[in-house]
Amino acid sequence: MNILQINSSARTAGSHSTRLATDIVGRLQGSNGKSALTLRDLGKAPLPALDEAALGALFTPADQRTPAQAARVAQDNALIAELQAADVLVLGVPMYNFGVPAALKNWIDAIARAGVTFKYTDKGPVGLLTGKKVYIALARGGLYRDTPADTQVPYLRSVLSFLGMTDVQFVYAEGLTMGPDAEKKALAGAGQQIEALFNAAVVA
Ligand SMILES: Cc1cc2nc3c(=O)[nH]c(=O)nc-3n(C[C@H](O)[C@H](O)[C@H](O)COP(=O)(O)O)c2cc1C
Repeated sequence: MNILQINSSARTAGSHSTRLATDIVGRLQGSNGKSALTLRDLGKAPLPALDEAALGALFTPADQRTPAQAARVAQDNALIAELQAADVLVLGVPMYNFGVPAALKNWIDAIARAGVTFKYTDKGPVGLLTGKKVYIALARGGLYRDTPADTQVPYLRSVLSFLGMTDVQFVYAEGLTMGPDAEKKALAGAGQQIEALFNAAVVA
């Protein structure tokens, strides 16, 4: 089993989403002795934003690219290959200003590529990254679960499903900036959600 863990907190220490994603990976590794982990920390090694240069590189034929354009496409190709090779994707996702971190959006912009990770057909777009399981650890200062203010869950479900990943489980740590008691409760609750996910898997 190949596991790809993507952390997207800007914090390199003390991040709740990173710790919860790491806990999920630990549970996956515990239940599968032969797992391999690829870890990408977008806080420590941020990816560039999609800009005109990136689009220019992508739409220039390979044999006509400048060295800089070739390097840019090669970087995204490597990210795509890493994801294609994964059986399980684990994302650590903080809420920043009501949305997903720009660092995670940059990764999504790098790996969503027509003809490679999805394709257009006469029946509409078809995702090509099928057969993967996805776990997403969410860390939020406030409370959004199951409310219209939760932009993250619908967005992540949409974009992952567009790419072919429909087996998605969310773990919520919410209320993390609502005082020490709320934080403690949120982290205990997230731990219980992880426990329930893996105990259910054992029973099934
Ligand atoms: C720049 C910034 C913006 C934030 N915006 C929100 C927000 O819109 N809603 C929210 O509930 N929490 C917000 N928070 C709180 C974080 O979601 C919370 O601290 C979370 O634990 C951060 O994830 P991490 O622990 O993995 O770093 C924000 C925090 C920062 C640093």
